[in-house]
Amino acid sequence: MTNLGRLYPLLDDVQLPDTIPYSQVSSWELRFLYLLGRHHLTGRDRLVELGSGGGGSTYALALGLRESPVFDERTGRLHAYDFFRVGKGTFASEKFFTSGAKPEDDNSFLNDFRGRLEPFLPFLEIHAGDLWQTSDAHDTTPVEFLHIDIAKTARVFRCVSERFLTRLRPGSVVLHQDFAGPRLPWLHHSTGALLPYIEIAGPPIRSTLAFEVVRPIPGDVLERISRDAYTVDEKLELIAAVQERIDRDHTGGIPFKPVLEFAKAYVAHYAGDHRRAWSLAKPLTGDEYLSRTRADHFDQLRKAYERDRAENGGGSRLGRLVKRAVGR
Ligand SMILES: C[S@@+](CC[C@H](N)C(=O)[O-])C[C@H]1O[C@@H](n2cnc3c(N)ncnc32)[C@H](O)[C@@H]1O
Repeated sequence: MTNLGRLYPLLDDVQLPDTIPYSQVSSWELRFLYLLGRHHLTGRDRLVELGSGGGGSTYALALGLRESPVFDERTGRLHAYDFFRVGKGTFASEKFFTSGAKPEDDNSFLNDFRGRLEPFLPFLEIHAGDLWQTSDAHDTTPVEFLHIDIAKTARVFRCVSERFLTRLRPGSVVLHQDFAGPRLPWLHHSTGALLPYIEIAGPPIRSTLAFEVVRPIPGDVLERISRDAYTVDEKLELIAAVQERIDRDHTGGIPFKPVLEFAKAYVAHYAGDHRRAWSLAKPLTGDEYLSRTRADHFDQLRKAYERDRAENGGGSRLGRLVKRAVGR
């Protein structure tokens, strides 16, 4: 059993209070966050949550820390990063307001967050605003725990990798939320690049992949991840390496092998190779889980491919390149 794997058998018995705020994270994941705080983390290095939203995940973790025999509230700090407001491009939901909807005159739910997290404010440090502005490019202090529920775009993932992954040390724990999201393939290929230096805790818990760093991560690996310096083929290989390591999630509901296959299609899609993207995605249309949960993703990739074909014609890749080069 892995070091973090010892928490899995405890999951069924965790009872979280009704006071826990609305969360986009499932109750399984909240219970895992609680267990990490209660039984694993020490608070001796930074504890960081990227993407706290309305505070559901923050609350579960903070509650575990409060009940931990080793976490010292006088010195330990939990850092919570979020826009704490709704609006275009924030990926924040109006459900993060206590009333469940945005008031007429205010788009910030920061005060609602503070109110809900009131019992934990003495050891909570809140960083409100765009992560690129609120995080410190020069901070190299080690991070003991990193909850990543913010990397919904490649731009934000770059900030996460430059400023936070670089601060991981052996013993650090990372939780990737939305690992079941094929549209976020940077989560998958970066994990592939880190495989020689990490131990995956066990099956993902719903959409969360947890791992512990077990060897120092070389600077050049971190730099390649931050600079996104992998070719499409390399990214597909890195994702394939992760595919070999995980299968169904702990609850049995999410089949990660096809999910990661779908993520490969998005690597090609983002690189502008819509033909390759659709050739990777099309065979997955028969997958029961993906066809039930990701119909919109299939539509997106199929339409991009059809548009591309209409604009650039069919035929071989070489033929299309020649056509593009000669302009007809
Ligand atoms: C999926 S939600 C977090 C959900 C939360 N963990 C929970 O328990 O419900 C993602 C959060 O990331 C935040 N976010 C996305 N991009 C951001 C950025 N560039 N800077 C700060 N926050 C960001 C959004 O405001 C949003 O609240």
